[in-house]
Amino acid sequence: MLIGGSVAIYSKALKEIPINNRLSYMDKDRIKILLVDDEDGILDVTEVYFEKKGYQVYTAGNGEKALDIVNQEKIDCVFTDINMPVMDGLELAEQIRHIDSTLPVVVMTGYPSLENTIQTLKNGVVDYLIKPVNLGQMELALRKILRERELFVENLILKEEVERRERLRLLNNELVKKVEEVNTLNRIMEDFAAIDSSYEIFNKVVRLAVEELKAELVFFHVYSEQNNSLVLVDKAGAENKKKPASYSMDIPEQEKAFIIESLGSDHKPCLIADASGIPSMEGQVHSFMVAPLKIRDKIFGIVSAYIFQGPHFFEGESLYYLSFITQKAASGIESIALYENIYENLFSTLFAFVTAIEVRDLYTRKHSTRVAKVAHIIAEAMECTKEELEIINVAGSLHDIGKIGIRDEILLKPGCLTEDEYEKIKEHPVIGADIISKLGLWDREAKIIRHHHERFDGKGYPDGLKGEQIPKLARILSVADCYDAMASDRAYRKKMDKNVVLEIILKNSGAQFDPDVVDSFLQVADQDLPDDC
Ligand SMILES: [Fe+2]
Repeated sequence: MLIGGSVAIYSKALKEIPINNRLSYMDKDRIKILLVDDEDGILDVTEVYFEKKGYQVYTAGNGEKALDIVNQEKIDCVFTDINMPVMDGLELAEQIRHIDSTLPVVVMTGYPSLENTIQTLKNGVVDYLIKPVNLGQMELALRKILRERELFVENLILKEEVERRERLRLLNNELVKKVEEVNTLNRIMEDFAAIDSSYEIFNKVVRLAVEELKAELVFFHVYSEQNNSLVLVDKAGAENKKKPASYSMDIPEQEKAFIIESLGSDHKPCLIADASGIPSMEGQVHSFMVAPLKIRDKIFGIVSAYIFQGPHFFEGESLYYLSFITQKAASGIESIALYENIYENLFSTLFAFVTAIEVRDLYTRKHSTRVAKVAHIIAEAMECTKEELEIINVAGSLHDIGKIGIRDEILLKPGCLTEDEYEKIKEHPVIGADIISKLGLWDREAKIIRHHHERFDGKGYPDGLKGEQIPKLARILSVADCYDAMASDRAYRKKMDKNVVLEIILKNSGAQFDPDVVDSFLQVADQDLPDDC
């Protein structure tokens, strides 16, 4: 058993021993011991004994000489008498401790007393022997100390190994957590990358909060600064969970006030794991958090998430993810708003060109607006997607924009056109498609514009496409365009009767027009079609 204080001594000793050398450190040939006694006879006998045993032995007749040796040599163990002139053994032990606190000192005394024993402990002495000391006993004590040291070193190596493994385990856990975090953040970012409308973003935010944060109910409110109020734009929640009836549509006004208040002036996200502090939620909500969605430092919206039943609670990590989701949503909404703004501005400019073309001819005014409306009605009847409906709106409104490249004397010629003049007119779908596609925003619309004069039988222009080679929306636009041309006044004739027009269209089904489009059109043609926009 080591005497108190030795752990610190060996701990320091170990740091000075390279790991690879630690086991060989106990090699007897290299062990240096220092014997200190004022009796030369004892020193001589002891020296011979230990040297025969293979130790390297140093001797000193008093404390001062002993200190000189300790200062010069790397001694492994010191045996010292207590009662010596100049400096006694205990003082020597104390001095050695100041020089090298790792060096074990064994004192030998003929007069053991409690006082001495306590003093030896105080001075960091690792063992003491009672005189007369048997040499074999000394060697046993030395071996014991060295063995204890060896065990301690081994123990420390094992401890280090355990600690290393524990550190590895913690690092590994940390790594797994980080990978999980990166995956979650990537999932969130990928989800937002594919979105191109604000409403899709609102929906994505509430669904992500339910899926990733295990929220039972999530609301997305848009914040109205003027009224200091919240307007619900979307919500999501696990329907199978029992939740208070008051949460079925929107959160109560009292709580909205709390949410606004809890965000405070710093607009920081807020987490309440114990909802007892929220008056209207008491007894209903276990955990709650709210995060603002800021665009250019102003609150645009607020996302609030609820857990009604324990034991699951939101934690700091949940709030971190919610804030990340709202940040991504904010930049998504900002880009969409910017894009929509550019898009709308550009559309307005282009449509102004169309209007400028149409006003030159009294009879074609608002033709494009009407065509877009009729095409939209047909597309709805054909169950086109929301995206296709948006495309047909733009393509319908801009389908004749290429006429801007046709000279007025041809475009506005009252009589019949020559063959060359007709060929010029036929260029307008290509010119229009070129104008639109150069903007890089409406490639699909440009395609519809290019092909709006194709015929189902392949006899149209500019590319003579046939049947389903012609884009579906262009086939729809073709019917709408011809319908409006016949159903509105022209310089050379009055507008034709609606039934007559429908008959003509039906007659051309399968030749000029796609039969499916004609069928759908005839099904909705009884409703009010625009004839005077
Ligand atoms: Fe046209």
